[in-house]
Amino acid sequence: MIGKFTTNKTAELTIDGKTFSLPIIEGTEGERAIDIRHLRKETGHITLDSGFMNTGSCASEITYLEGAKGILNYRGYAIDDLAENCSFVEVAYLLLHGHLPTSEEYSHFSNLLGRFALIHEDMIHFFDHFPPNTAPMAILSSMVNSLSNFYPEMTENPMEDIDIMATRLISKVRTIAAFTFKKSKGSPLVYPRHDLSYCANFLNMMFDSPVKPYTINDDVVAALNKILILHADHEQNCSTSAVRLVGSARVNLYASISAGISALWGPLHGGANQAVVEMLEDIYASDGDYQTYIDRAKDPNDPFRLVGFGHRVYKSHDPRSRIIKKACDEVLVALKVSDPLLDIAKELEEVALNDEFFIERNLYPNVDFYSGIIYRAIGIPNNMFTVMFALGRLPGWIAHWKEMWDDPDWRIGRPRQIYVGPKHRPFIPQEERDKESR
Ligand code: CMC
Repeated sequence: MIGKFTTNKTAELTIDGKTFSLPIIEGTEGERAIDIRHLRKETGHITLDSGFMNTGSCASEITYLEGAKGILNYRGYAIDDLAENCSFVEVAYLLLHGHLPTSEEYSHFSNLLGRFALIHEDMIHFFDHFPPNTAPMAILSSMVNSLSNFYPEMTENPMEDIDIMATRLISKVRTIAAFTFKKSKGSPLVYPRHDLSYCANFLNMMFDSPVKPYTINDDVVAALNKILILHADHEQNCSTSAVRLVGSARVNLYASISAGISALWGPLHGGANQAVVEMLEDIYASDGDYQTYIDRAKDPNDPFRLVGFGHRVYKSHDPRSRIIKKACDEVLVALKVSDPLLDIAKELEEVALNDEFFIERNLYPNVDFYSGIIYRAIGIPNNMFTVMFALGRLPGWIAHWKEMWDDPDWRIGRPRQIYVGPKHRPFIPQEERDKESR
């Protein structure tokens, strides 16, 4: 098991008059867990926990998140400090290696990101064969899975190649994302450039054109760095758990990340950033009538949810949403953009935060509530928003895959279940079934 935790307390569990003692373990920040790893062996019972609301699937040294206080730390560093002072590349290095890079480590990592930026030319043909309007997340997930054939692991032990594979993936996913956008518009591809930083390179691949050269804007580069940092990891969320679970079957890194991309696509997860802007656009089209949306979100007979609100872990402000809201204001001012959706979002937030329904359920804006407004200001279309989330989350996914692979406590992920179907019944031959149905 990764990391160190104390185990000097126990919990007692009594089943049918027999008492079992279960160790209580404590993490670095004091979170406690009842260790049930030997429960089934010792008691014959399993636990039932739909949606894993109370289940720790692993011990991890990567990210600490305390929902009640709105704390988020990567490798011990507060998200505010990282977002304020670092580039995305530094944070990616931190997540992958556990420490912030020295200048030498940073320039080596950046050089590799530049060196690996091209994708095999044969892969470029793939883009031509997706039907028009294919969702960019479907393309991203397919292309990432395909990378395993173009860039297979070099040895039997992926841990020997992990740094190369991780850097390659972080670099190539950026190129795939930009090419997906260009292909969707039928525009010529813009190849990566070695002289540009990670984010500037991405923006240039997205927006440069033979007829209108793109001018790199430092404010936009800074905003993109910040937004990617805020998305870079979030411990055992749905997509990261997918990466770990798929990877636990000892499949390669690319296939595991492709599974994470598919999970992220969901509107309850990363897909929420696109859904938020679509909701704000609908509100704008209905003359700013946000009250209907608040009323629908509160109606127990309506499945509608106020997207960009609520979180499984944060039961107070999501620290990322606070930083994104500020960045949003800054970018719009810097680019001299006035977006009516920002005003609607702020009004909606204000109303929801003062509404009993949202207060009682601790529903606050999450990371997806304001991010789409920044993307719009930069020129990124709605259907690429979740791809942007994936670009940011990638170092986190890889760090978790690496940690899972190396964990001495590793087992293939294989939950149990409580069977509630029919009890054993005798087989009925087809002729008899036919007779019965007549
Ligand atoms: N609008 C209205 N009601 C909500 C919302 C919402 N956005 N979120 C939760 N609730 C209500 C829910 O109906 C339930 O009410 P009741 O107790 O009366 O049945 C209560 O709050 C608890 O909800 P839950 O479904 O048990 O909470 P959860 O932890 O399972 O779900 C969530 C978390 C993020 C899926 C959910 O809040 C949601 O669907 N939010 C909207 C989608 C969204 O913004 N997703 C992005 C999440 S953050 C980034 C990421 O993970 O990718």
